[in-house]
Amino acid sequence: MKKFISLVIAITMLLPLGVKADEGMWLPMFIKRLNYVDMQKEGLKLTPEEIYSINNASLKDAIVNFGGFCTGEVISDQGLILTNHHCGYGAIAEFSNEEHDYLTDGFWAFDKSQELKPKSLFVSFLVKMEDVTDQIQEQLSPNMNEEERAAKVKELKASIAKQKTEGTSYRGVIKDFYKGNEFYLFIYNDYTDVRLVGAPPSSIGKYGGDTDNWMWPRHTGDFSMFRVYADADGNPSEYSENNVPLKPKHHLSINLNDKKEGDFAMIMGYPGSTERYLPSWGVQQAIDVEYPAVVKILDAKLSIMREYMSTSDKVRIDYATSYARFANYWKNRIGMIQALKKLNTVDKKKSIEKDFEAWVNADGERKSKYGQTLTLFEEFFSKTDDYTKSYMTLNLGVIRGSDVSGFVLRMKSMLIKYSEADDSKRAELKAHIEEKSSNFYEKHQMQMEREIMTAQLNIYASDASSDYQPEFFKEQAKDNNGDFKKDVDNMFDKSIYTNQEKLAKFLKKPKMKYIEKDELGILISGLSDYAKEIKAQVKPLSYNEVEAYRQFVAALREMNPDKAYAPDANFTMRLTYGQILPYQARDAVKYKFTTTIEGVMQKMDNSNPEFVVPEKLVELYNDKDYGQYANSKGELVVGFLSNNDITGGNSGSPVIDGNGNLIGTAFDGNWEAMSGDIEFEENLQRTISVDIRYTLFIVEKFAGAKNLIDEMTIIKD
Ligand code: ARG
Repeated sequence: MKKFISLVIAITMLLPLGVKADEGMWLPMFIKRLNYVDMQKEGLKLTPEEIYSINNASLKDAIVNFGGFCTGEVISDQGLILTNHHCGYGAIAEFSNEEHDYLTDGFWAFDKSQELKPKSLFVSFLVKMEDVTDQIQEQLSPNMNEEERAAKVKELKASIAKQKTEGTSYRGVIKDFYKGNEFYLFIYNDYTDVRLVGAPPSSIGKYGGDTDNWMWPRHTGDFSMFRVYADADGNPSEYSENNVPLKPKHHLSINLNDKKEGDFAMIMGYPGSTERYLPSWGVQQAIDVEYPAVVKILDAKLSIMREYMSTSDKVRIDYATSYARFANYWKNRIGMIQALKKLNTVDKKKSIEKDFEAWVNADGERKSKYGQTLTLFEEFFSKTDDYTKSYMTLNLGVIRGSDVSGFVLRMKSMLIKYSEADDSKRAELKAHIEEKSSNFYEKHQMQMEREIMTAQLNIYASDASSDYQPEFFKEQAKDNNGDFKKDVDNMFDKSIYTNQEKLAKFLKKPKMKYIEKDELGILISGLSDYAKEIKAQVKPLSYNEVEAYRQFVAALREMNPDKAYAPDANFTMRLTYGQILPYQARDAVKYKFTTTIEGVMQKMDNSNPEFVVPEKLVELYNDKDYGQYANSKGELVVGFLSNNDITGGNSGSPVIDGNGNLIGTAFDGNWEAMSGDIEFEENLQRTISVDIRYTLFIVEKFAGAKNLIDEMTIIKD
């Protein structure tokens, strides 16, 4: 026994202090210093320079920010990009209609001439990143108040980014790290000619639908493919027939061999946002106030959408992207509430805060620097419950939750401009307004929009605190007893924003009085202005929060100097590493780390749109026609788990083995650890990925797009 204990101690002492393999979205620039030893121990065979280098081609050159909201990876020397189906979804929807519904049926380009160019889609390659903390810090002074500080930081970020990219075609962005304690510059090369190459049908790419979303065991082939085009010199260029496929600096080779439990796995990509330093009061507010409000708002919206989307293919396709996005958010918040409660995240935060307090109180200097930190947090959160709930129901509900609201706001300012313009300018504006509005009407179902707006106004009336409702709204809600149905019908009937003929009339003879009298316009812009007003009211309080955060994170790092703290996600390139691992979900329930096509067949239910399996896939399964994509036991692996630390924005990221080869595409996290954006759950949190063998099996065997497989670099022993 004693021997065993000393062995444990010896092993523990060998580990670098504090660096935990699983938690942490690390900056590629620093892995050499912070993580490399650990990574090697876990099975990494590459050098740090092979992962991130400014001068030579490295893994980072095969990773792109996809469209500003996802990640993609280059998988051929002809600019072929792999990402998730749910990342390509908007582009796939854009080309879908009742004649050819690529969402339902999938799309494949069997040669490059068949590829489709969506209206707006870009990918960004990271050229390099740079620490600019000193340049910014030296211009800040402790005497500045938060407002002055924020303004100065904003100004410096813009001027430094500009200066660093002067004379280049690159884009520079500077972001805050560690809650405003450090600043890094990112230089990007943006390509805007990106074309859709292939997507499986939703019955593969979104198999399991919202029922399986955020959950394991998973059987989704969540992938799609695009191609980046460039001019003849390889530089970004607007769409042109003369453009050629980009020759990338690096593309990922693909490893089809078996993987076993404990194998090294890392993910590089663009995680969007985490709140790992959120204090206990913030977690409590999320659980009690913010997230339940989000769930209620979206419940109302989604149930109305479902009803209308089931009535026609056109409505289903027109609203598919919006529905998917909101449903993903909705289920996320339900899962977060559950997990934060179950895992006692508030208590975990409290215990960190207790240690923090003791550390601060042990020293006079610390006390003067950080003695206020927790109080500032507590004050902010204790005073913002009502505001948070009200602002959510107003902003997420009424303003962003209704497409018509956004349309009214944009239209109104255009129509004002139009009525004030002289004749020469008007023709141009008119064409623009007509185009925007007919696009909107074409893609929107007005009866459904009426119901959504009614539901959101009703929720705002019933759930927002009266301190956060404007007088005109309170009066209206009093008159209609909190039911806006009739008012909405009335407003929609009469409004120039919801009626094409009325708009046409206005354009013929624009008079300001029509805008001034339009009740829908008055209500929505009144509420939108009011939302900005209450946001401005809490600004001084939120500056306290900003200050508290900056102090808290700085102090934690001082308090544990040997622990490597990773900065919160902020849509910059990160690397997370760990292993392929199963997990124990709850008592007696342990999940394997892979799923196979057997599970696809077990879940099949052709009477449920979420679990339809295409006939062709059933045939391939019956014939066991898996080609080189079967594992050594003859099975076809579909999904797998690893303990990598990812979040939204990482969707589409490559899972990379110890030799730098692609083994899968990350697309989700697991239900039991949905609290992960706030507190990483070491034993529970897993990344869910599509196995690259399932992806390529679908491409080759299901779609017959061997042309794409031929481009790739494939490794199989
Ligand atoms: N939960 C995933 C994410 O946020 C999206 C999964 C999309 N699939 C779906 N059935 N909605 O990255």
